[in-house]
Amino acid sequence: MADALSLNPLPAPKLGEPYLLTPGPLTTAYSVKEAMLRDWGSWDADFRGMTAALTQKLLAIAGDVAGEYACVPMQGSGSFSVEAMLGTFVPRDGKVLVLANGAYGLRAAETLRYLGRAYTLIDKGDYMPPRGTEVAAALVTDPAITHVIAIHCETSSGILNPIGEIAEAVRSAGRKLFIDSMSAFGAVDLDVTRIPYEAMVSSANKCIEGVPGFGFVIARKSALEAAKGNCHSLSLDLHAQWAYMQKSGQWRFTPPTHVVAAFLEALRLHEVEGGVAGRGKRYTRNRDVMVAGMRDLGFETLLDDLWLSPIIVTFFCPADPAFSFTRFYELMKERGFIIYPGKLTVVDSFRVGCIGRMDEHVMRRVVQAAASALTEMGVASGTPPAAALEERAKLAPSNAH
Ligand SMILES: Cc1ncc(COP(=O)(O)O)c(C=O)c1O
Repeated sequence: MADALSLNPLPAPKLGEPYLLTPGPLTTAYSVKEAMLRDWGSWDADFRGMTAALTQKLLAIAGDVAGEYACVPMQGSGSFSVEAMLGTFVPRDGKVLVLANGAYGLRAAETLRYLGRAYTLIDKGDYMPPRGTEVAAALVTDPAITHVIAIHCETSSGILNPIGEIAEAVRSAGRKLFIDSMSAFGAVDLDVTRIPYEAMVSSANKCIEGVPGFGFVIARKSALEAAKGNCHSLSLDLHAQWAYMQKSGQWRFTPPTHVVAAFLEALRLHEVEGGVAGRGKRYTRNRDVMVAGMRDLGFETLLDDLWLSPIIVTFFCPADPAFSFTRFYELMKERGFIIYPGKLTVVDSFRVGCIGRMDEHVMRRVVQAAASALTEMGVASGTPPAAALEERAKLAPSNAH
């Protein structure tokens, strides 16, 4: 199937370039890289047309049939866009409920602290999901909360948070929702007609499979209009960027022209693959093939299947004392695969990404590489220590939806 997706010729092995089994930057198609071999004048009509096409296509992916939303690209990495979203939309006297279960929720809280905006935190630790009922209760308890921010896929563990029930709790309490869908948008459903939000953020180098250089915020036009003059920052002011783009078709400050060109090619490939559904299907298949193979080697996932995202998966490190993550990483790299360290505080773990220009055939080779790396290390099996499995058992009560 994969090779039928015209994923070949796969430049990575040919050039000796490893596959990036990471959550972005990720492995991109050759044509995406090739699209950067041309220079564009940032004020020129051709480039202005490219910016307009980019925002229209992203709004279509978001399902904005009613034309209620606008898409505002912002230079920089994803965190710049998160900061722009919070700084632009949270009023100076507003208060945000941050739903955290990993590094990116905590980063949103830290961003609000820098911005001097009031916030309160529900911190579920390394990976427990924030539930709709908890959000509803917190909103009843604290009437000062104006906004809620949720992380769609918390990339630090790979958990797919229950965004539907969170959105419903926020909506019925009459508050406004921000979604950090950095690592999920484009592959996991986030249609505004089903999951309404005030603003959503993602970036070029995640599930659309572009290269790094800008993020984008999709926000209600009414929110953008109301945000005039609210932002703390000149360069991160989304209202100003939006207003200038509407007037001139241009970005306010130097745009990442080559990255935009690459992104348009990535969007074309996204559409050819069948949009969000098609992309989500391939990533899900990548995950299923990889997880099944790794389990056959004795490895265990941190999360129960119910919470596994098709984006990235956390595995416990094996109990065998001959296992060393650093050595495993190097052996995987020698075999053409870059994996990712874990971010859990309690037990040792590592992560394997399922996103980027690769398919189930590549994932089978990932499993073969892991098997041969274990053999070379003298590790008999990927079975984790008992403590890791006890840690996982703690998740059990929250497994039921
Ligand atoms: C959910 C989420 N939020 C925010 C970020 C931050 O993005 P960046 O590293 O591009 O600044 C990431 C990065 O992976 C992410 O996965």
